[in-house]
Amino acid sequence: MGHLHCARFDDPMTHLHEILYCSVLAPDLEPGIVGKLVGQARARNAVRQISGLLVFDGLRFCQHIEGPPRELMRLMDRIGQDPRHTDVRVVYEGALDARRYRRFDMGYADIEGPSAMAGVRELDGAEALAHFLALRSGFDVSG
Ligand SMILES: Cc1cc2nc3c(=O)[nH]c(=O)nc-3n(C[C@H](O)[C@H](O)[C@H](O)COP(=O)(O)O)c2cc1C
Repeated sequence: MGHLHCARFDDPMTHLHEILYCSVLAPDLEPGIVGKLVGQARARNAVRQISGLLVFDGLRFCQHIEGPPRELMRLMDRIGQDPRHTDVRVVYEGALDARRYRRFDMGYADIEGPSAMAGVRELDGAEALAHFLALRSGFDVSG
């Protein structure tokens, strides 16, 4: 997987934006589709200067994405309309000074059980983001 070379294309004058959302796998789909989804997302994100982390517990997603605002908004529109998941809820969105996921076009963490991300779903805004970032160090991320 090609790593992003953000130092090269993140001009200090370029603004960055971040979005954290949660959603639920569509009821008719097998969890196995997620591997393919991640592969496609990585290839697309690499060319759009988007990086981030997708966490999946077998039923629910939380995804944190970052990049140039225009690209990020376009991506979030597409993600919001994607029939492979439902109940898409943005819990945090805002400007960002420096990337948090320099190494990942889209890191992926497969976690056990619904409780791990419950706090992220129940909280909102900056509190939800802080909770997700605190959990992040405990995830086994593949990139
Ligand atoms: C949970 C989830 C996460 C996704 N993450 C990304 C992503 O990080 N990057 C991406 O390009 N597409 C992602 N997608 C796929 C997009 O929704 C969409 O299918 C893809 O961007 C292609 O869009 P298009 O079919 O309109 O061209 C994700 C989909 C789901 C369900």
